[in-house]
Amino acid sequence: MKVQVSQVVKTMQWSLLLLATIVATITPCEAHSESAASTNTQCEYVALKTGHPDGILKQYCSRQIAKIMGWQGASWLDRVERESEERTDQLIDILNLKPGMIVGDIGAGTGRLSMLMLDRIKPHGQMWAVDVQAEMVGRLKEIAVKYPKNQFEVKQATALTPNLPSAIVDMAIMVDVYHELEFPREFLEALLLSIKPGGTIVFVEYRAGDPKVPIKRLHTMTVAQIKKEAGDVGLVFEKVVSDLTWQDVVFFRKPPITKK
Ligand SMILES: C[S@@+](CC[C@H](N)C(=O)[O-])C[C@H]1O[C@@H](n2cnc3c(N)ncnc32)[C@H](O)[C@@H]1O
Repeated sequence: MKVQVSQVVKTMQWSLLLLATIVATITPCEAHSESAASTNTQCEYVALKTGHPDGILKQYCSRQIAKIMGWQGASWLDRVERESEERTDQLIDILNLKPGMIVGDIGAGTGRLSMLMLDRIKPHGQMWAVDVQAEMVGRLKEIAVKYPKNQFEVKQATALTPNLPSAIVDMAIMVDVYHELEFPREFLEALLLSIKPGGTIVFVEYRAGDPKVPIKRLHTMTVAQIKKEAGDVGLVFEKVVSDLTWQDVVFFRKPPITKK
């Protein structure tokens, strides 16, 4: 009986030791996953019952998505003073486009910037001008016919995808567009497929919180917000250029394909 008791005590000691080892192994893992979750929060959609009148009743990553700028306001994109107000020439310089590049102007609108960019990548480069509004696409097609075949391609996007061929684009640019995408996550993921590995996606957004920027609040973004949303789909932040009076130009790289 004495032997049996000491055996039971020994077994209990071993069990306690085993339990202690398991707890010691599990606790750091849980702590790790908690900290990973807090720094790597997934951006989510939230339907709103009420909201800002300039927005759709939908939040993404804690930001209310803006209503699309309708084609009826297209003359604002083509206004003469835009050049001096926004220094579009300086914006095109910042992009550092090179002859021969294949560029996607995503949300190209009236195509004003598409044409300026095409001037930098001609004669062998190619412009893919994309828009979701049929009226804008119609205008872009009128521009396309003025260029040699295949130099100025036009695509009708949907809310979910730019509808571009896969792995074709060296640089995709969204000027004053991203904040009004209805499905920013899905659209960015689809856009990523059209970018060559190591290629670039550039966000140009009016600077939020700057009283000198005369733009409606929901049509502005902070660099931190852009980084959060782009990072959430796996884009790698490269640099931000804040030399323009009203806009920040934020560069991200598509990660190169890693072999498993
Ligand atoms: C404010 S305008 C800017 C036009 C042009 N980037 C410029 O700066 O002159 C925004 C454009 O984004 C387009 N847009 C919005 N959602 C889009 C989507 N899902 N796919 C493609 N274009 C979109 C709109 O139709 C509109 O022409």
